[in-house]
Amino acid sequence: MSHDDFPTDRPAVVTCGLPYANGDLHIGHLRTYVGGDVYSRALERLGQETAFVSGSDMHGTPVAVNAEQEGVSPEAFALDWHERYAETFPKFNVDFDNYGHTHDETNTEITQQLVRDLDEAGHLYEKEIMVAYDPVDDQYLPDRYVEGTCPYCGAHARGDECDEGCQRHLEPGEVEDPESTITGNPAEYRERTHKFFAVSEFADYLSDFLDRLEGTSNARNQPREWIEQGLQDWCITRDMDWGIDLPGENPQDLVLYVWVDAPIEYISSTKQYSERVGAGAFDWEAAWKEGVSDDHPEGGEIVHVIGRDIIQHHTIFWPAMLEATDHAEPRAVMASGFVTLGGKGFSTSRDRAVWADEYLDEGFHPDPLRYYLATNGGFQQDVDFSWEKFAERVNTELVGTVGNFLYRSLLFAHRNYEDGPDADAPSDEVAARIDEAVDEFAAAVNDYSVRALGDAVTDLARYGNEYIQRNEPWKLVDEEPAEAERVIYDCVALAKAIAVLFEPLAPEKSERLWAQLGESGTVHEATVEAAREGPTGDLSEPTELFEQVEDERVEDLNEKLEARVAESEDGDGDESDDDGSEADESAADENDDDTDDTDMTDIEPLSDDRISFDDFQELDIRVGRIEAAEGIEGADDLVKLTVDLGAETRTIVAGLKQLHDVSDLPDTKVIVLANMEKAELFGVESNGMVLAAGEEADLLTTYEDAGPGTKVK
Ligand code: 2FM
Ligand code: ZN
Repeated sequence: MSHDDFPTDRPAVVTCGLPYANGDLHIGHLRTYVGGDVYSRALERLGQETAFVSGSDMHGTPVAVNAEQEGVSPEAFALDWHERYAETFPKFNVDFDNYGHTHDETNTEITQQLVRDLDEAGHLYEKEIMVAYDPVDDQYLPDRYVEGTCPYCGAHARGDECDEGCQRHLEPGEVEDPESTITGNPAEYRERTHKFFAVSEFADYLSDFLDRLEGTSNARNQPREWIEQGLQDWCITRDMDWGIDLPGENPQDLVLYVWVDAPIEYISSTKQYSERVGAGAFDWEAAWKEGVSDDHPEGGEIVHVIGRDIIQHHTIFWPAMLEATDHAEPRAVMASGFVTLGGKGFSTSRDRAVWADEYLDEGFHPDPLRYYLATNGGFQQDVDFSWEKFAERVNTELVGTVGNFLYRSLLFAHRNYEDGPDADAPSDEVAARIDEAVDEFAAAVNDYSVRALGDAVTDLARYGNEYIQRNEPWKLVDEEPAEAERVIYDCVALAKAIAVLFEPLAPEKSERLWAQLGESGTVHEATVEAAREGPTGDLSEPTELFEQVEDERVEDLNEKLEARVAESEDGDGDESDDDGSEADESAADENDDDTDDTDMTDIEPLSDDRISFDDFQELDIRVGRIEAAEGIEGADDLVKLTVDLGAETRTIVAGLKQLHDVSDLPDTKVIVLANMEKAELFGVESNGMVLAAGEEADLLTTYEDAGPGTKVK
């Protein structure tokens, strides 16, 4: 089944992964929330009925461990953070229709009902398992109360996930050499009875589901492999006090695993929104449940926007829970890459981050950060934050292109035409260009590319600058006043289209532009049809929409950031330490479905360090042909390639798994550095290196018929 293009006549729910209510938000977190907000606004601009929901993730050990360290109850601790988040998101114009939390009554009820439904449908069973236990402290050690060694890749791992290694979700009892994270005591394993959800029964369903799933390609590629490796059933209970009680008979006083009630908050939050606005305005049941609406019995268009570290939960556990309980299946999962600093992950505990509040305290407007986060690299690529790059994008694109066009044309219009320039409609040329921009905008929504949404607007503004420059209304105004007015009317029409199409990325600035244009109502309710219709209001005196970020400012911000990063590096090496939403050093190699034109600001300067022809001759570069390609157990990014190099066939390991469809690789002609020194990666000896360009691993090849083994010289 393929999905109809947006807009459809089904209600859409856009959700953002729930932040654990356990610490300050940094701009790495904001990337996902801004992405979700941009996407949901873009759907609305297309005329799609949309609810945008999220909430705070209050339960689980990420909250309980931090609360314990602060010496407060998990509830008080989590509620405090929840309230802070509810205040912070709107400051970045992240405007949820409902922002709830997992500990409220709605979520408790819906979660317990859904678990009862799973049970009644026969998908739950009990099993004796070994659970980590601290004999000195006399307490069980679920999830992040315990650390040890990953049984799959040998990396140091949390009790619930291999956060420093293969990124797998780990089931209770899996981590080896367990130790308590609270006391440092060695833990032992004790037998307990826990509830399991039979996820493995859904393997076929999930395979088909992944074939239908839209969004970013990383959200399909990784889970396909997990399914191939065989799904494990999922322990849904924990030996803890903090959480939602397992419904029904519960002699051991177990609570539900945090990952059961967290995604259910997507439903609960939608319900709260419906209850506030009325089911006539948004019907949560028609969106989430199968068989409720006669018009769309399969439910609504569910789009999950998440960080790439929680793909497994959203593409395996969650859709299986939804399928087992007759809920709508997700239409798309958009999994964002991380934001890094100097190529390394943000770290809350080491203060190596650019904090959300800090950005605002510096006096910056939220919209430039939204634009930067949404458009700097494809959504699933990791992006490295720097104030230089931020300033460069703001200065060239927002100030130099969009702001410049708007200011010069609106100032001219306001000075010369008191009530605004008059015409019946935009010229054919400009109307066609606006239509093109609207089509690009719609295509970006259907490609799940927030970056392409930005491109649609900057390209339109670039065209506007070229149009006004080409037509020179300032020269026409005395000699051909009617022609001058027509040109300026076209420019105001372009400005209006920019206001509508830029609303998702820069909602506050677009609203200001809308007011300057004298348009009625709010741009937050306008659709792309308004972008096509031409201006209707009286212009006010324009002001510059965006502010330049000066070089001295960048230097100052850099100094502060560098000092902080240096301090954070004084300790030991690894930094991914708190809420799981952080990148590690090896993380910057994801792919994207977006049309990834190379960002010229990312191009490294060419090297001045010359090598001799003899040095070059030492490189044995050959044409090869990939004969076979397969994943490597435990390595999320690597593929094992069998490459025909003419004289011999070699095994070469390459980091292509997230960037290419592995099944498409056989028969591809590649260029290989054949005398690269051998290396062992995840137990496989790699004998050569496949050459590729850029972050997306664009594979080098030849265009004619040079066969395997041909030397490149
Ligand atoms: O990994 C996390 O930060 C989780 N709090 C995300 C939960 S998203 C979903 F399940 F709601
Ligand atoms: Zn591992």
